[in-house]
Amino acid sequence: MKKLESKTIFITGGLSGIGKSCAIAAAREGANVVIADLKSDISDIVMAEIQRENDAALFIDCNVSVYGDVKSAIDTTVEKFKTIDVALNNAGIGGEPNKVGDMTQDAWLKVIDVNLNGVFNCMSHELSQMEKQKKGVIINMSSILGKVGFPMSSHYVAAKHGVIGLTQTAALEYAAMGIRVNAICPGFINTPMLAEAGITKDIDTEQKIIDLHPMKRLGIPEEITKGFIFLASDDSSFITGSTLEIDGGFLAQ
Ligand SMILES: NC(=O)c1ccc[n+]([C@@H]2O[C@H](COP(=O)([O-])OP(=O)(O)OC[C@H]3O[C@@H](n4cnc5c(N)ncnc54)[C@H](O)[C@@H]3O)[C@@H](O)[C@H]2O)c1
Repeated sequence: MKKLESKTIFITGGLSGIGKSCAIAAAREGANVVIADLKSDISDIVMAEIQRENDAALFIDCNVSVYGDVKSAIDTTVEKFKTIDVALNNAGIGGEPNKVGDMTQDAWLKVIDVNLNGVFNCMSHELSQMEKQKKGVIINMSSILGKVGFPMSSHYVAAKHGVIGLTQTAALEYAAMGIRVNAICPGFINTPMLAEAGITKDIDTEQKIIDLHPMKRLGIPEEITKGFIFLASDDSSFITGSTLEIDGGFLAQ
């Protein structure tokens, strides 16, 4: 029995890394997958990969920082599939590293706009729809850096802490309506984001990050995907307002 048979799953940032892995797994579990991401050279290739698992997959060009983009992405999803059963608010960026005192306002706002405002924009429209349906599941991609500080990353850390606050508050507001809201806190996962941040391009930098994890390795996207499928499915029917840490022991220290 497939765990997400005929459910409609809306995934932001589903063209790469963790989001792509979750999209492929959801399609394999029988879901209609909608990817909301910035259109790029890889859009068609990634969509073809997802459609190999389940043909009913749709791409929507959407910048999560733009409220109107998100509203129209949700409207298009509902027009096509009638409901949004699960939303994975995953789109995110790393941002330029700097100390708080040296960070430009532009660098700060860029990360907050995608990683925090983007999640709010999505939740706002998803919850309006789920309230009409009287059911739904939201999963927000936070981070281990949503629980602790990390030098040179105040914008990212603040946004990911904010995502957990949003998750817990919405969980309380919507629990009695049959809507569950949870967050995932990954440790460092080997995705294009880490390459872009220069972490996996330099062996010494990569080793320093590996050493922060008691399991002495980076995670892989498929390890986050398993947690996502659990939170998306009825296997987690009594779980709301929680954070699932998938981090090789990082937060246990
Ligand atoms: N990789 C890690 O170590 C790690 C750890 C903890 C949390 N996370 C979080 O997981 C999520 C996915 O990260 P990843 O490592 O897979 O990154 P990634 O760079 O591989 O993928 C991010 C995706 O988000 C999309 N995106 C970026 N800005 C967008 C915007 N404004 N609107 C729509 N889509 C946008 C990108 O196009 C891309 O497809 C992010 O929220 C990230 O903060 C990652």
